[in-house]
Amino acid sequence: MQRTLIIFKPDTVQRRLVGQILQRFESKGLRIAALKLLQVDRPLGEKHYAEHQGKPFFEGLIDFITGGPVVVGVLEGNEAITVVRSMLGATNGAAAAPGTVRGDFSISKQNNLIHGSDSPESALREIALWFRPEEVVDYTIDGSQWVF
Ligand code: PPS
Repeated sequence: MQRTLIIFKPDTVQRRLVGQILQRFESKGLRIAALKLLQVDRPLGEKHYAEHQGKPFFEGLIDFITGGPVVVGVLEGNEAITVVRSMLGATNGAAAAPGTVRGDFSISKQNNLIHGSDSPESALREIALWFRPEEVVDYTIDGSQWVF
């Protein structure tokens, strides 16, 4: 089992696509371990994207991620990091394959809807940045008990 951080960026919230995209991850078999909506401030945005500091798009990226509320979550499942990244598609929505989230809903490098951790190290760092330990919940899914 592996955990990964996902951010439904401000464009996803503004376009009311959160539910539709979250449904894809749930249908794939990933389960929600944490989920919340919040307004990101510049220090948090800069920490999250610290590896891109100094790149030409950095300031615009921080303007974008702080420009409206985001929904941030932790998804859990077998190979969750790779599974989410492949479901997202290429960074640039214009180049992303049809069938992927970005390929189906984005034509932009910046307004590309969802962030997903790119490695186990990033996932650990990002989950700790966005969530307190008690906000990430351990539980089992048992359909027989709940589905009636
Ligand atoms: S790069 O070029 O290798 O640093 O890009 P990448 O690691 O794939 O993604 C960088 C994140 O910055 C966002 N972003 C942009 N990337 C590249 N070029 C431009 N102009 C740009 N503007 C914004 C991009 O959406 C990636 O965000 P995340 O949230 O990590 O997907």
